[in-house]
Amino acid sequence: MKTLNISLENTQLALYLKIAEAIRDAIKDGAVMPAEKLPSTRTLAEQLSVNRHTVMAAYNELIAQGWVETKQRQGYTVSLTLPIYSSLANKAKQIRQGNKHSWRVIKQNQGSLTRPAHDYSFNFAGGNPDIDLFPFNEFRGFINEALNRPSIKELNYGENSGFKPFIKEVGTYLRRVRSIIDKEIIVVNGTQEALYILSQVLLKSGDKVAVENLGYRPAWAALKNAGAELVGIKQTEEGIDVGDFELLIKQEKIRLLYLTPLHQYPTTITLSVAKRVQLYRLAQQYNIPIIEDDYDHEFHYSSQPLPPMAANDPSGLVIYLSSFSKIMFPGIRLGIIAVDKSLAQHIVSYRTLINHKANVLLQDAVARWMKDGGFERHLRKSTRQYQKRRECMVDILNSFVDDGLNIQFTIPKGGMALWVNVNKNAQEIADSAKSKGIFLLAENAFHLTPKNNENKFIRLGFAGQSEEKIKQGLLMLKPLLA
Ligand SMILES: Cc1ncc(COP(=O)(O)O)c(C=O)c1O
Repeated sequence: MKTLNISLENTQLALYLKIAEAIRDAIKDGAVMPAEKLPSTRTLAEQLSVNRHTVMAAYNELIAQGWVETKQRQGYTVSLTLPIYSSLANKAKQIRQGNKHSWRVIKQNQGSLTRPAHDYSFNFAGGNPDIDLFPFNEFRGFINEALNRPSIKELNYGENSGFKPFIKEVGTYLRRVRSIIDKEIIVVNGTQEALYILSQVLLKSGDKVAVENLGYRPAWAALKNAGAELVGIKQTEEGIDVGDFELLIKQEKIRLLYLTPLHQYPTTITLSVAKRVQLYRLAQQYNIPIIEDDYDHEFHYSSQPLPPMAANDPSGLVIYLSSFSKIMFPGIRLGIIAVDKSLAQHIVSYRTLINHKANVLLQDAVARWMKDGGFERHLRKSTRQYQKRRECMVDILNSFVDDGLNIQFTIPKGGMALWVNVNKNAQEIADSAKSKGIFLLAENAFHLTPKNNENKFIRLGFAGQSEEKIKQGLLMLKPLLA
């Protein structure tokens, strides 16, 4: 232990006894626990501005009393077997509990998971990347580089839209791979932070926001937290029903549209070019910004993915969100907002309320990795793997159909999951699967309005686990689908 805060009583006792008493009080109060290391005599002597021998005498006193132990060259530790310790600790706990403050909680988020999906033996959560595929050794080199040659000026307070060399790399990548050219880039700690900031900047209480009927609840929670009322747009097998959206615009004053156009979450459908053009027209005509959540752009298999709506955005109304959670791993907490210049400054300035500096070291390492080409190598490798896993899952489900199971699905052009009509009570299947150690979500988890729940679809993620695991898990699931 390095430091222990103790206060010496102003008594007549000899100094070493005052110190011993103060340490004993710290042990009794639970500031240091049994078996925990105490400060060295030198540290404590410096801290208290006393002679080292005085501290040694204090420790010897505590050893004699049974409070402290010492082993050769290992310094001093709190005794493991303090006879009165547990009763003292309990007493302290009781006092603390008796005085518990009751908090006035104004806002709460109801949506947290009770048991994380990765705790299950088979994890079919739809949005999980396979973190085992990430090249940690390679990436470590770039973290080291960032530490070896840090940009001291950038590590200080100041610029808050992100680390410039990272923004440059991302800008080049977005231009080259996603055709996004004239947008300003802001770096955030993942898409969720982007959604929170945008909701706060663009909405006020009672504003109507249009979302897909089946969609991404964490985004909805951020919008609602800003006071928005969500209005669901009907979906067909070709994605959202633009006619229904137009109707909603005429009935209500829609202030914002939130969409996942490439691989619709959760149905995986890609929004056609024709529908996109209609949406641009409506957005322009009625002045409705579109938040485009392009959360898994690279994972597209049979052809190149359609460029984002932000790429051909005629009036600059598309606010583009991209996340590193799938292309690296969720714990990296990196996300991008690409937006028209006229809005960018408002976002950066609002972001300063939450956080007044970006994680420069991390962005520096990722920028170096991107510049080196490692980022795109990793993307190519994981996309190939995910494609194989999609094929593996499709083959197994097709074999189930051959065996007479009544399930239907369309092979998605990309993404990380299949949306499967099981023609049975989907929620019951998800619940029974959990009891067998299999995590998957049923349709119910994605509906804005519970009355729309037909309760017959399940979402099966294929990216996050090996083909072997996919096979084993699906075979265990098969009797539940029959
Ligand atoms: C629709 C959607 N958007 C965004 C994200 C990524 O969010 P974040 O960047 O906050 O991890 C996910 C991840 O599951 C998602 O499914």
